[in-house]
Amino acid sequence: MRARILGTGSFVPQGVVTNLDLEKKVETSDEWIRARTGIIERRVSDEKTATSDLAYEASKRAIESAKLSKKDIELIIVATCTPDVLFPSVACVIQDKLGATNAAGFDVSAACSGFNFAMSVASKYIETGTYKNILVVGADTLTKYVDWKDRNICILFGDGAGAVVLQATNEDCGILGSYLKVKGEGGKFLVMPQKGFICMDGKEVFKFAVRALEESVLEVLRLTNLSMSNIGLLIPHQANIRIIDHVIKKFNLPKDKVYVNLQKYGNTSAASIPIALDEAVADKKVHKGGIVVLAGFGAGLTYGANVIRWG
Ligand code: UT7
Repeated sequence: MRARILGTGSFVPQGVVTNLDLEKKVETSDEWIRARTGIIERRVSDEKTATSDLAYEASKRAIESAKLSKKDIELIIVATCTPDVLFPSVACVIQDKLGATNAAGFDVSAACSGFNFAMSVASKYIETGTYKNILVVGADTLTKYVDWKDRNICILFGDGAGAVVLQATNEDCGILGSYLKVKGEGGKFLVMPQKGFICMDGKEVFKFAVRALEESVLEVLRLTNLSMSNIGLLIPHQANIRIIDHVIKKFNLPKDKVYVNLQKYGNTSAASIPIALDEAVADKKVHKGGIVVLAGFGAGLTYGANVIRWG
């Protein structure tokens, strides 16, 4: 039994903050931000919009695209580090809002790596025959924890949500394997206190991210007996184009096999990979039988990857 992706969905808030807007707030420039990060604009939610609102919209779209009823969902796993409140979990909030009356649910906390961790957990429930239909969501509103006067931080992050519906299948497709790692000793390099703003040692996180992305891709391919040439599409965490370019160069990957949309959204944390996946599906970048690798890294420090045979 494997977990295949039956539907995808995503949602970003309407508010756009461009690099030019940031030029007016801090000492920076559109040129610097583009050159050092690849980001051009990001979406920022208003005060009334919480993570669960974005998660709900993305989930609704994923369930619609899967052509399932909300009542078919048996488990909801939400990867987030910005829940509306410490409890109830975002999973509980959207279970109610969706009317997914047959679903259990919980949140997973692994910052920007959260979606990969949640997908791996969900796949185990399916492989063991516990559940047939699971909603997996990555949703974050990190901009609520951004100091808009700190130019090291405010240029990087955006808000959003992405979701997939996983379904049990006997066919040779779905999640083939996962690789997950934690390096808690590096936790101090990227911290979000309960109150206040995100603190980051950008250089340390950058060095870690490059190594983590490399290791995640190599290890998950090794675990699934695949090689670099099998990759149909790599969807890396969308944090910084220089981190992604490093991996493209290192593995000699054709650029059209690596999905990038960070120019539009910045780093949306746990939402970045499922938003990119949803857009890649809409752009017809994934094909039946093709190998899709989701790989990322984040605070914790956490990192990891999933390999999917599209079906
Ligand atoms: O999911 C994980 C989330 N975190 C990340 O992915 C972050 C990983 N790190 C990064 O992406 C990069 O380290 C940053 C984009 C945050 C910074 O880029 P960098 O190339 O490491 O820049 P830097 O910190 O070495 O700064 C270079 C220069 C400095 O000036 P001096 O000392 O050379 O005169 C900074 O003061 O650029 C200056 N600087 C800026 N200038 C204009 C730093 N931030 C800015 C800015 N605008 N926003």
